[in-house]
Amino acid sequence: MKFVEFGESKTRVSEVVLGCMRIPQLEQQEVSQLLETAIDCDINMLDIADVYTNGKAEEMLGKALKDTGLRDRFFIQSKCGIRKNPHFFDFSKEHIVSAVEKSLQRIGTDHLDSLLLHRPDALMEPEEVGEAFNTLYKSGKVLNFGVSNMNRYQMELLSSGLDMPLTANQMQLSVCHTMMFDHSFNVNMDNDAAVMRDGGILEYCRLKNMAIQAWSVMQHGFFRGVFIGAPEYLKLNSVLDRIAEEQQVTSTAVAIAWILRYPGKMQAIIGTTNKRRVRESALASTVKLDRAQWYEIYLAAGNNLP
Ligand SMILES: NC(=O)c1ccc[n+]([C@@H]2O[C@H](COP(=O)([O-])OP(=O)(O)OC[C@H]3O[C@@H](n4cnc5c(N)ncnc54)[C@H](OP(=O)(O)O)[C@@H]3O)[C@@H](O)[C@H]2O)c1
Repeated sequence: MKFVEFGESKTRVSEVVLGCMRIPQLEQQEVSQLLETAIDCDINMLDIADVYTNGKAEEMLGKALKDTGLRDRFFIQSKCGIRKNPHFFDFSKEHIVSAVEKSLQRIGTDHLDSLLLHRPDALMEPEEVGEAFNTLYKSGKVLNFGVSNMNRYQMELLSSGLDMPLTANQMQLSVCHTMMFDHSFNVNMDNDAAVMRDGGILEYCRLKNMAIQAWSVMQHGFFRGVFIGAPEYLKLNSVLDRIAEEQQVTSTAVAIAWILRYPGKMQAIIGTTNKRRVRESALASTVKLDRAQWYEIYLAAGNNLP
């Protein structure tokens, strides 16, 4: 397993991260087994959010950490800022602080190693968020702060009110969800791919030394399904299968390695609830893709290059 240095403390966290959004699909005992498998594969970071199944995912994670005694072996990242019933985004100080307190209670821990603001709140006041972060940091309840699904100017605006640097941005990225790359090949061209929707997020995160965390690494579209074995991605699957055979891993590992190959501080958040697939995914860290293979995969997924 390769590790990235996270935040100012430079804590070494695995580049493959276990996402816990789907653990409520499991029996409680199976969640413990999933955590044990992750540790066995040198995956030392977990990603979760308060909103996943209305707190049930955090509760199940908390029970599993208690049953396995593994809390101190994991770097735990949670998220807040999405409210349900009614649905809106809330970066008020009151909400951020109380959401973290509830997450800590459900997870059964005295601190989060990292907290991300889940989706941008148009009404955010950077200084107010700064106060919330300071309160949480000074009380030792959160050690690092970052964002999710934010573009460059949202990060800049937010940072203007913060006393600490943002450590990570978590965004959707897979071989079949490549918008953050597409525009970069088509600068100043008269085609749709040239449209820069998000303002160079990847380049910005690299310049700021932020971790770039990919979510839904095996999905195409917004939770439309897994591309491995999907009939609409025959060419992609055939390329992934060939490289997988050459490197003696599975196509799952190659698809994740494609994300990790980008030269930023990359992390892939895997969402599997299956122990065998955790092991397959961890092996992504051993795969070496050269430039030609990286571009071959990009093209096989249905993209074009000028
Ligand atoms: N920041 C955000 O806005 C945001 C949004 C969504 C998710 N996330 C984070 O990202 C994590 C991952 O997201 P995700 O769950 O959508 O990721 P994912 O890994 O793309 O999807 C996982 C799903 O795909 C299935 N799957 C994975 N690999 C497969 C394969 N090779 N063949 C067949 N099925 C396969 C899994 O089934 P099995 O369980 O049976 O393997 C599971 O149902 C979440 O846990 C969460 O922590 C963040």
